[in-house]
Amino acid sequence: MALKIWRYDAVKGERALEEYEVDAPDWATLLDVLDIVKDRHDGTLAYRKSCRMMICGSCGMRMDGAAVLACKTRMVDIAESGHVPVISAMGNMPIVKDLVVDMNPFWGKIRAVQPWLEPGYSDPGEKEHIVSQERMDTIHKESLCIMCGCCVSECNSMEADPDFLGPAALAKGMRFVGDARDRATVERLQSYSEEHGIWDCTRCYFCQERCPKGVDPRDAIAKLGAEAMREGIDSDMGARHAKWFVTSAKTTGWLRETELVPKTQGIAKSMKEVTFAMGLLKHGKVPPPFPPHVAKHVDEARALYDIVKQEGAQGAAGIVQSEHALARLEFVHESGAEERDPYGPDSFPEPLPPGEGAGQ
Ligand code: SF4
Ligand code: SF4
Ligand code: FES
Repeated sequence: MALKIWRYDAVKGERALEEYEVDAPDWATLLDVLDIVKDRHDGTLAYRKSCRMMICGSCGMRMDGAAVLACKTRMVDIAESGHVPVISAMGNMPIVKDLVVDMNPFWGKIRAVQPWLEPGYSDPGEKEHIVSQERMDTIHKESLCIMCGCCVSECNSMEADPDFLGPAALAKGMRFVGDARDRATVERLQSYSEEHGIWDCTRCYFCQERCPKGVDPRDAIAKLGAEAMREGIDSDMGARHAKWFVTSAKTTGWLRETELVPKTQGIAKSMKEVTFAMGLLKHGKVPPPFPPHVAKHVDEARALYDIVKQEGAQGAAGIVQSEHALARLEFVHESGAEERDPYGPDSFPEPLPPGEGAGQ
């Protein structure tokens, strides 16, 4: 088995792509191969592991640029194909050494969503509080999280805004918002709806694709958004943006983009964009808002809206979950990936030196 590993020493600021070739059994996972490299070839290689069976969440890393759990990733097919995978540390977290990242920013965000039950009483008394299995099943997926960080590693929004709460923390938030025993739902939804929260997700679905446990964090974020709307917590620009999509589609069958900015940002803020809007208008990029362009078959859009309304599925119950709706993308080894420096320009994000970047 041949593989290349991006070695990185944050103290010296040195990085190097090292190639190794080892004898490994057919059943070897990526973690087994790393163990062989460390035991027999280079004892200085640093990576994390503990359970070796996809439970502890310690061994998150990237293979050919995509986050994986090393103990879940079998290597025999890759070795037989002749491909030489490139292993590197997870993204969006400062690298400490080689494949070890500083998880403090990750834990800070988990803490920020208050990952504990707020049952509304301090003394449970003698009464037993029984929750039905059916009710607990609504948060089954969110409860599967093993805190590996693979979703955070791949998050586009976090790359642009390190303060974004991110997929793991928000999935954890949904685990408590959806818990029948919790009495802090409104406070939670208000807090998660603030800047850097629910509405800052770009819906890229990378977290969903890379989560090794099927938590589907993007689904969780969609459910939080729907629950916030149901509670009337919709003052954030993202919430207003989503609401305008629905109104626009229902009334005209189109997205009325000219009105999108004032409806989302409010009239006062939109005035600041007037010069930009005039430029767009001059180049024919802004259709006149009046009369609105109504689709020929707008009745179909309205009928669709009515069907959804009649179903009466409010909040999280109205979210179509992606595990069945989206075809799972197979992991494909990219040709030429080995030549790319995962931290260089035009490849993957720069590693963050310890102590910098993703804040809370
Ligand atoms: S869907 Fe949202 S939370 Fe998930 S990776 Fe993309 S931006 Fe991040
Ligand atoms: S949501 Fe999935 S990828 Fe993210 S930390 Fe939890 S188990 Fe890992
Ligand atoms: S070593 Fe525990 S999840 Fe991989």
